[in-house]
Amino acid sequence: MISYNKEKRVFKLDTENTSYCIGVVDKENFLGHVYYGPRITDDSIDYLMRIFENPFVPSQNERDRGSFLDSFPTEYAGSFLGDFREGSIQVRDKNGHEAVQLTYRSHEIIVGKPELKGLPSTFPGKDHVETLAVKMADDTIGLEAVLYYSVFEKEDCIVRSITVKNTFDAPIHLTKIMSMTMDMDSEDFELLTLYGSWARERQIDIRPLGYGKTSVGSIRGESSHQEHPFMALVEKNATQDVGRVYGFSFVYSGNFLAQAQKSQFDSVRIMMGIHPDCFDFELKSGDEFVAPEVVMTFSASGLGQMTRNYHDMYREHLIRSPYKDRTRPVLINNWEATYFDFDTDKLLDIARQAKSCGIEMLVMDDGWFGQRNDDNSSLGDWQVNEDKIKGGLKYLVDEVNKIGLKFGIWMEPEMISPDSDLYRAHPDWAIALPNRTPSKSRNQYVLDLTRPEVVEYVYGCISSVLKSANIEYLKWDMNRQITDPGSLYLGKENQGELCHRFVLAVYELQERLVTDFPDLLLENCSGGGARFDPGMLYYSPQIWCSDDTDAIERLKIQEGTALIYPLSTMGAHVSDCPNHTVGRTTPFKTRGDVALLGTFGYELDVTKISPDDVSMIPAQIENFHKYNDLVRNGDYYRIASFRENNVFDCVQIVSKDKKESLVVFVQVLGRPNCHSRNLRLKGLDPKRVYRVEAENEEIIRLHGDTLMNAGLMIANPWGDNVSIIIHIREA
Ligand code: DGJ
Repeated sequence: MISYNKEKRVFKLDTENTSYCIGVVDKENFLGHVYYGPRITDDSIDYLMRIFENPFVPSQNERDRGSFLDSFPTEYAGSFLGDFREGSIQVRDKNGHEAVQLTYRSHEIIVGKPELKGLPSTFPGKDHVETLAVKMADDTIGLEAVLYYSVFEKEDCIVRSITVKNTFDAPIHLTKIMSMTMDMDSEDFELLTLYGSWARERQIDIRPLGYGKTSVGSIRGESSHQEHPFMALVEKNATQDVGRVYGFSFVYSGNFLAQAQKSQFDSVRIMMGIHPDCFDFELKSGDEFVAPEVVMTFSASGLGQMTRNYHDMYREHLIRSPYKDRTRPVLINNWEATYFDFDTDKLLDIARQAKSCGIEMLVMDDGWFGQRNDDNSSLGDWQVNEDKIKGGLKYLVDEVNKIGLKFGIWMEPEMISPDSDLYRAHPDWAIALPNRTPSKSRNQYVLDLTRPEVVEYVYGCISSVLKSANIEYLKWDMNRQITDPGSLYLGKENQGELCHRFVLAVYELQERLVTDFPDLLLENCSGGGARFDPGMLYYSPQIWCSDDTDAIERLKIQEGTALIYPLSTMGAHVSDCPNHTVGRTTPFKTRGDVALLGTFGYELDVTKISPDDVSMIPAQIENFHKYNDLVRNGDYYRIASFRENNVFDCVQIVSKDKKESLVVFVQVLGRPNCHSRNLRLKGLDPKRVYRVEAENEEIIRLHGDTLMNAGLMIANPWGDNVSIIIHIREA
């Protein structure tokens, strides 16, 4: 997988379909980017770094060292020494200077992949993975670094990260550390990123890449609703099936920066890492900093292949939960059913009716603890409110279990309400700046998780709740972003560490949780989907995708999310209508069919919805069980996008052995006087004969090549927001 051409000093990293090459040049050992793209044979390609042309390398043309640095395609850019493009790393050394330039020292090829201490990271699992570790250093400031490149052959992924170490006898401040940088020639690329908002997460945005810097990022303390730790460089006019696509996905849940910079020489510098704003990490002599990793993939055949690479990569090499390979229980969550207005009797009524419909778990959401009857109080006071939960938590859980349902619970462990016993006892436990009243958001503050005693308190609360009854699922929520980044615990030199240390503490808490409660089904959540990122997937196999449960809005949210993340990770529920977020009414069937493309569950008062809707639940659950293996493990193909055509949406899943496929078609807008719609399917075995059923009725038998090339004709359904399920099986 990894080879080294000693003469040319070029490393070649091969996956099944791609090659990634880097090279060492000149006497000073600059590390350059040589090539990334379809798999190639030769490694004697150092000429691609253009070192044999003006301005040449510094040992040949020292007078133009600056021009060399400013145009050399680098693998990790220094700062303030001649390269005027954005640097990958910045420091404040003991003399107050910021310049840094790491150059190559030695390398090692490791079988396997070293773990990133304290951070989520991809792992080899059963596969053979090799890692290239390139040792770099800047002797002037005593900084050593290792650039890691791990090769995941089958998934066509290369994973990059960096660790740095202060080898001087004085502290140094790291003020910026990108996890990866890569320079390559620009090819009229477009940039694909995901933007959004609360209830509108991960919408796809594609725009031409112009000169200068284009970036997305978060300084909100979490990966955020607004921008996403992902970027793809996409060949102009690329489609799902055609065109070169480079994907970069950051395995981190806090502040991030993803940037593309097109330079004067038409090269593009991609970089991704922790956002340098609000970041200043002190490294004492001998200290090391481990940066989070970036998962890169290249597809020569459009966005669809990029998606399938990421799905396989994250399913096989990131998500650790045993639930990854299991059908999850069909749950009913009481949030949209009751909000804060519930008690034991109400929950038991819901549980009984849910059981009679085939639902398998009741999840009690926000409002069961302290004095929490609205969102103004009690975060931090994780004692059950016995005025509402009469008889206590254990009684409720036992009763729910007797009805025949499992039980799950909601918590928001990272938060503290100003109106809470916890805050009254420990006002210094909230993140705040001296002499400033911290900004409230949803009337709450964020706990200072840099304090070890706060982490202990939080973990103690979670574990005692979980141990107090037979609780089999936890929804871990996080409903506000970090402002006022100050800690009364950290010293003056360390205030800039708060945001990163906060994320590390969340990871530490979740690591302890999944270790101590290995059978717990953990679902992360952040005011909907503000922390839906690869970092959180390392701990929880599913994440609540969005607070917007409207089936039509979900088409776009789930399309953007599924661009990177497997369907098995996307928390998706059927809710009541008119939808609580947009007021739209859609058929109950459509709501079910769209939720089928995620984890599937209910978020409504099953004792109050119409008998017609209730009567449809058992069949929906039957469908969920029928298709869930396929949805969880299959290959994802996008046939049509409502986002693009404004009329209809169509997603197809194909089993790995190509014997079975599911197509979910949603006609959002009915239109008059239209011909039937021809769906050209994808991913099937061309030679196999398939039996095609629409809504459980066989409609035709055809070969895979016919279905993929000639297409499958379906009549236009009558009405708006109507869905059809097509099941395709080997005949
Ligand atoms: C935000 C979540 O996304 C909702 O599902 C719900 O749990 C509320 N928080 C509760 O406050």
